[in-house]
Amino acid sequence: MIWRKYGAAASCHDSAMTNLDDMRRLGLFDARVPRYTSYPPATAFSPQTDQAFQTASLQALDPAVPVSVYVHIPFCERLCWFCACRTQGTTTLKPVANYLQVVLKELALLRDTLPQGVRMGQMHWGGGTPTILPPEMIRTLAKAVKDVIPPAENFSFSVEIDPTLVDEAKIAALAEMGMTRASIGIQDFATDVQEAIGRKQSFAQTRACVETLRAAGITSLNADLVYGLPYQTPGKLADTIAKVSALDPDRIALFGYAHVPTFSKRQKLIPDDALPKEEERYHLARQAANAFTGSGYTAIGIDHFGKPEDSLTRAAKSGHLRRNFQGYTDDTCPTLIGIGASSISQFAEGYIQNAAATAAYIERIEAGQLAGHRGYAMTETDRLHAQAINMLMCDFEIDLTALASHPQAATLTSIHEALLKDFAGYVTRSGDKISITPQGRALTRIIAQRYDGFSSIAAQYSQAS
Ligand SMILES: C[S@@+](CC[C@H](N)C(=O)[O-])C[C@H]1O[C@@H](n2cnc3c(N)ncnc32)[C@H](O)[C@@H]1O
Ligand code: SF4
Repeated sequence: MIWRKYGAAASCHDSAMTNLDDMRRLGLFDARVPRYTSYPPATAFSPQTDQAFQTASLQALDPAVPVSVYVHIPFCERLCWFCACRTQGTTTLKPVANYLQVVLKELALLRDTLPQGVRMGQMHWGGGTPTILPPEMIRTLAKAVKDVIPPAENFSFSVEIDPTLVDEAKIAALAEMGMTRASIGIQDFATDVQEAIGRKQSFAQTRACVETLRAAGITSLNADLVYGLPYQTPGKLADTIAKVSALDPDRIALFGYAHVPTFSKRQKLIPDDALPKEEERYHLARQAANAFTGSGYTAIGIDHFGKPEDSLTRAAKSGHLRRNFQGYTDDTCPTLIGIGASSISQFAEGYIQNAAATAAYIERIEAGQLAGHRGYAMTETDRLHAQAINMLMCDFEIDLTALASHPQAATLTSIHEALLKDFAGYVTRSGDKISITPQGRALTRIIAQRYDGFSSIAAQYSQAS
């Protein structure tokens, strides 16, 4: 996935415009930059790192250290035009039921490969739309994963929920299987915006979903919003923000709309001239950020907000925020096992992605093989660059003392120096910390890119603002 970010604050109109012109010069509106949910980004993965790497990495896991698990459900009943997720539309449950059978086979292959005793600290179901699964399939899938990788103590389980494709029985099944956090898709409540993105969803429907989740005992709720959508204006966004605030989510993800029609063909249905212009988009992001921080949420990283007591907020405050393929996380597990088509696994040794097309994934698993087909084996140099990028994306600063334990830390000196020069006013140094100033936060991905040894593969990313 290739989107996301938010804007920074400025004190008065004139200085805001000057800042904006200056940030434009630094690439705010033109740069095409990865979201750095991994380093190296998935575009650097290659077929030379394949299933053999996956098998060896799985076999090398230490059973004493819990893993995280991600399960991808690549189906939706509706295909929203704005969406860049890897998914396919279906009006029947037949392909979903077939897919579930294949996922069960993948789990059996994992059972044969993993060392005895590996446990799961966190599980996340994403898509697509996991809530396309009817209750019995929800139970079958959750039990099968837990059977192969039993939950560790303090196990947490989050699920992406489409409020238009969920009901009480599905939520009850998810709660019964141990769901602790729900992430609900909202995007925007304005009718004309929803029409232009092919996604109708009323406030009443969304509120009913939230109430059902809370009644089922799910106390941690995240809401996904998107700025930069067609026909979005400050007035409509203010209305959406008021409605979202009334739902009282614990976390909010505020993603910048990534308009990448060459990659996501259905976005061609969105007329370019309906999209907010660059500066409008920037101000929409700022408006939402100011509204959420003004009403008590803490800004987390480049695109999240959390209540002070939320675990992501606490992780950010204590310097334990991390980035993985779902975005920001407080997950402490060093390993992520990706299950299903296109899922990416992360090991100490590197990354491996399952075959992306559902048909290719099914073919691999039916042939009795794990589905990893392209990946990346990390070098020591990559680890250093990944650490610097993760610090910038999560903490807005590089801690030189923490980096110094890496044997090649000195090789970054020229990058630090160039950064301080080129981004003067937006990046400062104090003692052993190189920090992005609050004004410079809109440039975070562009700044992080300075530490990216693969930045030449940039054409397919979304804009940085
Ligand atoms: C995998 S989708 C799952 C959401 C769920 N199926 C639903 O519709 O409610 C997760 C989130 O990705 C975000 N997203 C998808 N396409 C995007 C795009 N082109 N730009 C920015 N965010 C996007 C949306 O906020 C969406 O809620
Ligand atoms: S936003 Fe959700 S429902 Fe819409 S196409 Fe994307 S994954 Fe499917």
